[in-house]
Amino acid sequence: MSKINIETINTENTKLSSERIIELRNINEQYFIMNGKRKLYHILTYGCQMNEHDSEKIGGMLTSIGYEETDDSQNADLVIFNTCLIRENAELKVYGKLGEVKGLKRHKPDMIVAVCGCMMQKEELRQKLLKQFKFVDIIFGTNTIQELPGLIYDVEVNKKKSVDIIDNTELIYENMPKSRKFKYKALVNITYGCNNFCTYCVVPYVRGREKSRTPEEIINEVRALAFDGCKEITLLGQNVNSYGSNLENPFTFAELLYELNKIDGIERIRFMTSHPKDLTDDLIKAIKECNKVCNHVHLPIQAGSDDVLRRMNRKYTKDHYLNLVEKLKKEIPDIALTTDIIVGFPGETEEDFLETIDVVKKVQYDSAFTFLYSVREGTKAAEMEDQIPDDVKHERFNRLLDVLYPIVLDRNSQCIGNVYSVLVESVNNTSENSLTGRSEHFRLVHFKGNEELLGQIVNVKITNVKTFHMEGEIVEQ
Ligand code: 5AD
Ligand code: SF4
Repeated sequence: MSKINIETINTENTKLSSERIIELRNINEQYFIMNGKRKLYHILTYGCQMNEHDSEKIGGMLTSIGYEETDDSQNADLVIFNTCLIRENAELKVYGKLGEVKGLKRHKPDMIVAVCGCMMQKEELRQKLLKQFKFVDIIFGTNTIQELPGLIYDVEVNKKKSVDIIDNTELIYENMPKSRKFKYKALVNITYGCNNFCTYCVVPYVRGREKSRTPEEIINEVRALAFDGCKEITLLGQNVNSYGSNLENPFTFAELLYELNKIDGIERIRFMTSHPKDLTDDLIKAIKECNKVCNHVHLPIQAGSDDVLRRMNRKYTKDHYLNLVEKLKKEIPDIALTTDIIVGFPGETEEDFLETIDVVKKVQYDSAFTFLYSVREGTKAAEMEDQIPDDVKHERFNRLLDVLYPIVLDRNSQCIGNVYSVLVESVNNTSENSLTGRSEHFRLVHFKGNEELLGQIVNVKITNVKTFHMEGEIVEQ
């Protein structure tokens, strides 16, 4: 490839002109005619569902300019890394894989390599990438996905390395094409960014302040999904409970659930994540009253000690959290509760840690994501004294799992003999229990069945349980 210049464009108001989109499409159409196959893209997605959904938008943009997806990076003409910064290991994984792709690019110099996502929202990491991984052709941010065709144009036609990041995260781009991974379940953004500034977390720094989509945009998207045969939606936001407060015409998350519950065709509504400080009685009522809203709340506790919670800037106490759980269980006895827990936050004492264990025992979670605290540069917690040594963190982490797993297994055991509705999500013909899906309570269920049931909601009687999944058999209702 000829030498490329580095150009940083700030595209506050820039849009790739329709002429250039058409030109790019024509180039890719010519390629198709000459080669009998389309150019292929491969996306590596790291991190949360927010990133997964961004990858669906990236796929949609690429499909609209004539690319096709491949699951093999070796064959790809364009490899995209959609990165995550939440913990150090997410970052390290990206560097490791970039090293592998460097070798690939040596053999295929025309292959375009793009890096986007949360890591690229940090100036230092962009600079590091430009210095250490010089073969990367395109860098874009979480707010510039819509500019990707323009960046590809610059590399392909103008032979320029392209970097495009907008620091102003006020804008919401609607109606982007999406290449959705599943037909029968879909991720739907309701808010972007976060205002909470938990002291350990980089999200507010990379994804910007919280912005809500309008109810009209969300409802229209969900109606269109239902029309396309989608049965389950998951509403995404860093804190869905504060949805709508910054809209011109404020609208609550509870009100949104009531509206979405009316949409024919949609059978299940999920949402994540709920911040305990903002979970209102109105929302509990909405979960209870809306028959399509699943009886599952993901409610991160993060830590059980009031002192740690204060230093995490979580804005609730252990008692507030436990009262909330009690209220949820009283109003919706069938509720499943899952959580996120961080072990080894700076200054966490043995007594603090035992408060976390106490919450786990009291709540009896259906499952939990557990994390070792990871120092994230730029956050307040990174500057705190008394960082916990790795061996102490690991020892506490293992003790937490020793308490958590038997509880999860016990919760699963209580399901034996019961019948649950399960949305069939995947087929594995090499296994005796060839179908896998999730129950309303978000439990993974394996069972025997015909692959034609993919995307259907079936009734499954639970016969056996493990910590991370359950087994069962289809029954007629
Ligand atoms: N270290 C460990 N875990 C973290 N999380 C966020 N930031 C950090 C960090 N610095 C966890 C929180 C959050 C989840 C998505 O990731 O538990 O809820
Ligand atoms: Fe991070 Fe806290 Fe915002 Fe969640 S609520 S994204 S943990 S700052």
